[in-house]
Amino acid sequence: MLKNDLLLRAARGEETERTPVWLMRQAGRILPEYRALRGRLSGFKELVETPALAAEVTIQPVDALDVDAAIIFSDILVVPEAMGLTYEMVEAKGPLFPETIKNAQDVARMRVADPEEHLGYVLEALRVTKRALNGRVPLIGFAGAPWTILAYMVEGHGSKTFSKARRMLYAEPALAHELLAKITATTIAYLKAQVEAGANIVQVFDSWAGILPPAHYQEFSTRYIAEICRAIPEVPVTVFAKGAFWAVEEFAQLPCRTIGLDWNQDARAVRPLVGDKTLQGNLDPCALYGSREQVRAATIAMLDQFGPHRHIANLGHGVYPDTNPDNVKVFIETVKEYSPKLR
Ligand code: CP3
Repeated sequence: MLKNDLLLRAARGEETERTPVWLMRQAGRILPEYRALRGRLSGFKELVETPALAAEVTIQPVDALDVDAAIIFSDILVVPEAMGLTYEMVEAKGPLFPETIKNAQDVARMRVADPEEHLGYVLEALRVTKRALNGRVPLIGFAGAPWTILAYMVEGHGSKTFSKARRMLYAEPALAHELLAKITATTIAYLKAQVEAGANIVQVFDSWAGILPPAHYQEFSTRYIAEICRAIPEVPVTVFAKGAFWAVEEFAQLPCRTIGLDWNQDARAVRPLVGDKTLQGNLDPCALYGSREQVRAATIAMLDQFGPHRHIANLGHGVYPDTNPDNVKVFIETVKEYSPKLR
């Protein structure tokens, strides 16, 4: 079915003729064709909620950059919205929840969402994308990890400290668990529906993992990520927990296939801790601000660290919007040209 299944084979731990490559946030403002389409619309949500348009921007980086996977164009914040908490995407500022979770009544008001009823537009975008891709590359589905979703629902917007959300873990741990359980149930149903709609692999983004102490991370995040991994045996699951270098050994025990590393982690040190798992990452997004030669050298150094197999090349976090797409192409071309030589 798939003409290029490198990413799936690498995720499953199989040997591949070269290392597959894609970029977190590849569909977005780095591409002039994205900015052109986005500029004609009322806002980010119109793009996310219109399946034909979401499919179009999902495929843009496959055409423009020749990456080995498409990731469905959506956002992790569609899940809180499906549960009853609407978000706004404020131009040049980021997400904002006009209402937030403050107490037990607020948690009680949140529903476990039904994927078809409350997130049907994402599922339709996956189906449209799948048809349009026609087997060119695998399609990646995704969701936020329950802790990261709780952080936005309680805080209401981005924050350096997420101290309102972190306060809940100390002051009202039972309430936090109640909310995390609802988010987890929603996320499991949502990811299963994404797989049915055509996702070949799914990624769980725990963007705010790194602000928790390890004991809190285990109690309020890993156990819910574990539930999600156990519930999705149909496709490989990637867990990307930004900043949670201490959690890698626990992730190695989960039924996930791939562990994402950010640029603070050293693949050579991590490899012996994760058994036969595949690793994804981890070039520093800022390395793409260098010259072509610097980008090439940094990419080669990264590939040498990970070795030939069980590696999916990516950045250590999403690509920054002001990155020159030509340097993104150098990154991708270097992976394609250099990684066969590691074999
Ligand atoms: O190409 C892809 O990776 C697919 C699209 C994607 C988006 N958001 C589109 C988007 C994905 C995978 C996400 C995930 C996401 N969203 C995460 C987890 C990954 C991470 O970066 O840690 C988080 C924390 C969010 C929440 C979010 N969405 C924030 C904080 C922001 C504002 C910051 C920013 O980048 O502008 C967004 C907005 C957003 N999501 C944009 C895009 C393309 C930019 C908005 C626009 O184009 O108007």
